Amino acid sequence: MSKEKYPEFSLDLIRVTEAAAMMSSLYTGFGDKEAVDKAAVDALRGMLDYINIRGTVVIGEGEKDEAPMLYTGEEVGSWEGTAPEMDIAVDPIDGTRLVAYGLPGAIAVIAVAERGKICPLPTFYSYKLAVGPDLKGQLDMNASIRENLRVAAAILNIKIGDLNVVVLNRDRHQGLIKEIRSVGARIKLITDGDIAGAIATATPDSEADIYVGIGGSPEAILAAAALKTLGGELQLKLWPSSEQEKNTLTEKGWDFEKVYHTNDLVGGEHVLFAATGVTTGDFLNGVRFVKGKAITESLAIRSPSNTIRKITTYHDLNTKTVRVKSTEGDEKFIELNRKVRMGK
Ligand code: FBP
Repeated sequence: MSKEKYPEFSLDLIRVTEAAAMMSSLYTGFGDKEAVDKAAVDALRGMLDYINIRGTVVIGEGEKDEAPMLYTGEEVGSWEGTAPEMDIAVDPIDGTRLVAYGLPGAIAVIAVAERGKICPLPTFYSYKLAVGPDLKGQLDMNASIRENLRVAAAILNIKIGDLNVVVLNRDRHQGLIKEIRSVGARIKLITDGDIAGAIATATPDSEADIYVGIGGSPEAILAAAALKTLGGELQLKLWPSSEQEKNTLTEKGWDFEKVYHTNDLVGGEHVLFAATGVTTGDFLNGVRFVKGKAITESLAIRSPSNTIRKITTYHDLNTKTVRVKSTEGDEKFIELNRKVRMGK
């Protein structure tokens, strides 16, 4: 594949996640998850059409009958003749609850890869293990967490007690949490937002060493896209939440014992990942409205060059418009200032 076939459009992707973050941030603290999600989806979908790709949503909001927008198979982008064909994975907001309740750590996220290279994971949940470059290829998700922590500490040349493990705070993780605590490792329990939790293991300024536990499958794909470029790793096993789901997927040939590695999840050489903070978290500030500007902070990661960009943008509220495409099919330009002044 020639490099020219896959042009650099990180900035275009950031414009998409910025729009989703700004529009959804207007609902911060209002307790309305649906409104947060809809604002992000509409903006994301409106802005995606500006990008000169022939994109197909592989990981989105679900099957077409349950998700009228950003459904699996939806075509996005300009679809002009020579534009490259690409797979799209989106999570308009990872941490809708966090935005709805004004809590830290929500991000708007998108990843793009060569056509056919993003794995269409069929389950809602997966069991995931993510690490940064130092532990890449060293841990085995089939081994016990106790054993993985022992290996990790030995490789990092630190005491087990100095390891930092990120885990979603859920009842289903009680056994896991108990086991991690029993060997003395530190745990950072997060309430939501495990894309950021997994990526934190590979960012140089974060203390996280390992992310482990059961979380969303779409979130796994997006985290894998970032980790691939950051030099980290994500291992995954499908985690069907009912016998019925398991039986249906077994009939379709899915294997629940298979361990998927980063490149099984997001293959190919050309991968772009972009995220914008909605509420302030460990690695991105949330949207702030200050002195007539909306200020956003975003991350763009790209392979094969492995460039990481952190971009702060100042959007002039007097002139800023966001193109939105709603469920009803309407396309319009929203003046952000009007929204900010008049409320949602
Ligand atoms: P949403 O923003 O889509 O609600 O996802 C938030 C999240 O915390 C994800 O980061 C995580 O993978 C998933 O929910 C875990 O699901 P659950 O809340 O059902 O345990």
